[in-house]
Amino acid sequence: MKMQLGVNIDHIATLRQARGGNTPSPLEAAAVCLNLGAEYIVVHLRKDRRHIQENDLRLLTKNFRKNIHLEMSATQELTDLAVKYKPASVCIVPEYPGELTTSGGLKLDKTHLPVIQRTIKRLKQENIKVSLFVDTNANDIRTAKRIGADIVELCTKNYSEAKTEKQRQAFLEELSICSILGRELDLVVHSGHGLDYENVCDVASLSGMQCLNIGFSIMARAMFVGLPQAILEMRQKIS
Ligand code: PXP
Repeated sequence: MKMQLGVNIDHIATLRQARGGNTPSPLEAAAVCLNLGAEYIVVHLRKDRRHIQENDLRLLTKNFRKNIHLEMSATQELTDLAVKYKPASVCIVPEYPGELTTSGGLKLDKTHLPVIQRTIKRLKQENIKVSLFVDTNANDIRTAKRIGADIVELCTKNYSEAKTEKQRQAFLEELSICSILGRELDLVVHSGHGLDYENVCDVASLSGMQCLNIGFSIMARAMFVGLPQAILEMRQKIS
C-alpha cells in the first residue's frame, strides 16, 4: 500500500504570526501540499495559539475537511473547537508550557486516562477519527486500542535524535515492533516527530507503517527550493 504523507503546516502560520498579517497563508500552503499528493494537512492548535489560529482551522476545514488532521491536547476548550469544525481526524497530544514542540507521547496512566477517554468519546460521537500520540511502548498501544483510538501515532523523537548508529537501530527496532503490534490490533499506524530527508526512508519501509506526519524538515527545505519541490522530494523518499 502507498505510504501516506501528512504535512504539518504549523510553521507557515509561525512565519505569518511574525508580522501579524495574512501571509504566508496556511490555506494556500494546504492547497499546494494536497495538489502535490499529500494525503493530510496536519495542524496543531496550541493552547497559546502561537501559530495556527481558530480561523485557520475554520478555513481549512471549510475547504479541505476530509484531509484535515488536527493535533490538540485533551482540553475542554480545544475539544469544543474540534467538535465545531469537525476535521477528519484528531490526534491527541500532550502539551506542556514552554515546550518548543510536542516533547513526547501521551502519559496513559491513571491520572491522565479519564480525560483522554472522555475526549475520545466526545470526538467519536461526532464521527471524528481519533489518534493518540504514543511513545514506542507496547502497553500504550494496547491501552490506545482498549480505550477506543482508531489510530496510533508512534513518536519518532528518540529515533530522530539518536546520537549513535547503535541507538538509531535500537529505536528503529522499537518502531518496527510497535508498528506491527498496532496493525495486529487493527489500529491505523502513523508516525512522526523529527523525520527528515535523511532519516525518513528507514521508517517508511517498516512493515505496518501507513502514514508519516512531517512538518519542520519540509518547511526548512521549502525555504530554499520552494514548497512544491520540497513536497515532491519527500514523496520520492517515502515511496
Ligand atoms: N506528529 C506530532 C504529534 C507532532 O506534534 C509533530 C510536531 O508538531 C509532528 C508530528 C511533526 O514533527 P516535525 O515538525 O518534527 O516533523
